[in-house]
Amino acid sequence: MKKIKLISVILLTIIVTACNSKEIIVFSPNGNIFAAFEIKDGKPYYRIAKNDKQIIDFSQLGFDLNGENALNKNFTIKSTSESSFDQTWEQPWGEEISVRNHCNELTVELQETEGEQRLLTIIFRVFDDGVGFRYVLPEQPNLTEFEIADELTEFVLHEDMYAWHITAYKGEYYENLYKKSQISKINDTVSTPLTIETNDGQYITIHEANLTDYAAMNLYSKHNSTTLKADLTPWSTGVKVYAQTPFATPWRTIVLADDLNALVNSRIMLNLNEPCKIQNTDWIKPSKYVGIWWEMHMEKSTWGQGAKHGANTKNVMSFIDFAAANNLQSVLVEGWNYGWDGNWSGHGEQFSFTKPYPDFDIKKITDYAAKKGVKIIGHHETGGSTINYENQMNDAFAFYKKYGIDAVKTGYVYKLLDGKELHSSQYGVRHYRKVIETAANYQIMIDNHEPVMPTGLQRTYPNLMTQEGVRGQEYDAWSKDGGNPPEHTTIIPFTRGLAGPVDFTFGTFGFVNPVYPQTRVRTTLAKQLALYVVIYSPLQMASDLLEKYRGKPAFEFISIVPVDWSKTIIKESKIGDYVVTVRKDKHSDDWFLGAITDENARNLKSDFSFLDKDKKYMAKIFKDAPDADWQTNPDAVVIEEIEIDSDTIMDLYLAAGGGIAIWIKAE
Ligand code: NOJ
Repeated sequence: MKKIKLISVILLTIIVTACNSKEIIVFSPNGNIFAAFEIKDGKPYYRIAKNDKQIIDFSQLGFDLNGENALNKNFTIKSTSESSFDQTWEQPWGEEISVRNHCNELTVELQETEGEQRLLTIIFRVFDDGVGFRYVLPEQPNLTEFEIADELTEFVLHEDMYAWHITAYKGEYYENLYKKSQISKINDTVSTPLTIETNDGQYITIHEANLTDYAAMNLYSKHNSTTLKADLTPWSTGVKVYAQTPFATPWRTIVLADDLNALVNSRIMLNLNEPCKIQNTDWIKPSKYVGIWWEMHMEKSTWGQGAKHGANTKNVMSFIDFAAANNLQSVLVEGWNYGWDGNWSGHGEQFSFTKPYPDFDIKKITDYAAKKGVKIIGHHETGGSTINYENQMNDAFAFYKKYGIDAVKTGYVYKLLDGKELHSSQYGVRHYRKVIETAANYQIMIDNHEPVMPTGLQRTYPNLMTQEGVRGQEYDAWSKDGGNPPEHTTIIPFTRGLAGPVDFTFGTFGFVNPVYPQTRVRTTLAKQLALYVVIYSPLQMASDLLEKYRGKPAFEFISIVPVDWSKTIIKESKIGDYVVTVRKDKHSDDWFLGAITDENARNLKSDFSFLDKDKKYMAKIFKDAPDADWQTNPDAVVIEEIEIDSDTIMDLYLAAGGGIAIWIKAE
């Protein structure tokens, strides 16, 4: 800290002379990154630089409030303080075990010089790989209950750069395809995480951490400008946030990574969330699952009652048998409860979360599952009715708990919650938090579909296992545009994936779609396997119909691939083109490699220098056959075993839309 203070003093002096205003600078522990704060003409600004290069130019801070003066002017600095942290904490599950929280903090207390003399505090934390900052509104006489009309935070990028973006809060639950364009060409409100490639091949991701009782932050980007402005999802009243002091906003995070490996391994978001609030986490267990799911999307069975009802006791038991025989720990069952008959989306008030359909014998099913060592994953589709769900929530979790069900997939299919509010509004944020906390009281894990974008809350509530908020595999069943293009999954790890685990639900082995023949899974089979390594989630689904898996040697990869890791490495990769991910199993010395490509076939190479120097390994390789191609020959997979060590260099051939999955067994 001493060295850091010294550098700050030197820079401060230079800037005072140059601008005749006071800039306060806080450096990262290694001194490479700094955030600077300044009051100019009474208005608060910050900027960020890395390796002496400006990344974010002076950008404004503050709020517009309803019925009160804006909180962004006439400020003076009342006090400043600095501190630093260097702690390591352990995750119950994740992409690595230990997380280092190493940063320097600057707290700036501001006070208005005129009028009501209101107080506003801004806290910066600077890490070796980026910056987080948040606003704190302390308890004070002239600011008690208030309404945020607009958060004025800007991110003024120093130069124009390319970004991967999806449109924000237009009713699609983040289920869009990412577009790549220069920031100056975007004329839209886009979601975070927003990932940007710098002109010298580094990466910036803007997002947020610890979204608590606030609206999600989106970014408004005006055509011909490199300024991104916070755009909070509003309530139906137009108000962005209802609050009262003392109050703290989520952290705004700016990850600055040298390469894609550093980007994926940044833990700024998790570090800016609060430590775990669940005392005993032994019951929280990552798992792989099959389920009564794809068959409904393929219209082989139905959620609602009738001759084709999917969630019948016999069918569920066959899934339990399959899971038990194939090293899968759980079975998801959708369509088990009253409420599905008729039009349920937007009519969620008809759902009961304690009344199973007559042909779903929950006691018989859960007894059978317990005997076979398999868990049932429950399902609460709300049809967007959070009121109906909240009214039943305790009974709903207690009901499942009684039958030993300790994980629930939730769903919110309707464009507005309760016909009124957006999913990513403060209303939605409050509801999703209530679900996570209530589920934790019942020792139940959550897989949240149609969520608000994740912000690292799994650190505080590790029962929040995974979430959707992505255009997932289901689009390959029914989207009118033909399905997800092959490049889609080469973008996800570096955009949506940075917000937290993704319940994408891959694992398709049958490529013909009987419902929409023009729509299909646009990958090879080897790529389906590789995705279990490339896209992270502690709950991973093998989503296809069981008959597609039976007798298929390639299914071995799905049954052995772990869902909990001690280390993650991104090898040579390019967003939108190809990804090579290597992960080490948390519970053994085995490693796994997954490589995927877009619509272009590629010859890549990988070294294995991450392996222990003095060990030999047996690599079981699941790869595209020479004539594999996602359009003409997706099933052609070759399985072979070779011995490798840390000196091995391997050619990785990826067919068009293809991939390769390798299980590297320590001998
Ligand atoms: C949309 C979810 O993403 C999907 O997984 C689920 O099957 C349906 N809603 C029904 O709840």
